[in-house]
Amino acid sequence: MGVGISILVGTMTGTAEMVAQEVQQALETAGHQATIQVMDNLDARAFHGGGTFLICISTYGAGDVPDNAQALVNSLETEKPNLSSVTYGVIALGDRTYKDTYCQGGIRFDKMLAELGAKRAGEILMHDASSGTLPEELAAQWVVPWVAHLAPSSETA
Ligand SMILES: Cc1cc2nc3c(=O)[nH]c(=O)nc-3n(C[C@H](O)[C@H](O)[C@H](O)COP(=O)(O)O)c2cc1C
Repeated sequence: MGVGISILVGTMTGTAEMVAQEVQQALETAGHQATIQVMDNLDARAFHGGGTFLICISTYGAGDVPDNAQALVNSLETEKPNLSSVTYGVIALGDRTYKDTYCQGGIRFDKMLAELGAKRAGEILMHDASSGTLPEELAAQWVVPWVAHLAPSSETA
């Protein structure tokens, strides 16, 4: 049985979007369904109705989310919706060169969703751009076992 997953992308220079596309392909090959939405123009309503989400997001500035994720973050922080029907995973892109703020964009998003009552499945996947590994390869390998952390109720027919 497949699982339906909404991938939300926060990106500045497109890496997270490329990662999302590889992840989508890996999920579909494994018999799941995945849609991709960049966070531009999204607000708290993106989580309305609940479901399973995969947050694929990089880090900029002093540990901030990318510009295209800012409006969604602001909306969630202002409206404080009850996200108890949301299950999510996080793919956080960063660079260990930024020691204190490594992957903080994804970590910040994780904290916010958890505070709103959403349940994270599995651990956060963190990718270090200075490691020499490709984030899209790492994420595509990570995501299929990640699905096993989801509750059976996430399954689609
Ligand atoms: C100006 C700039 C600031 C960055 N700041 C951070 C940071 O504070 N922490 C971190 O882990 N990575 C930081 N990064 C690394 C990016 O998050 C990383 O390269 C990521 O893969 C970029 O993904 P994107 O193309 O989807 O935006 C920074 C990169 C740039 C160019």
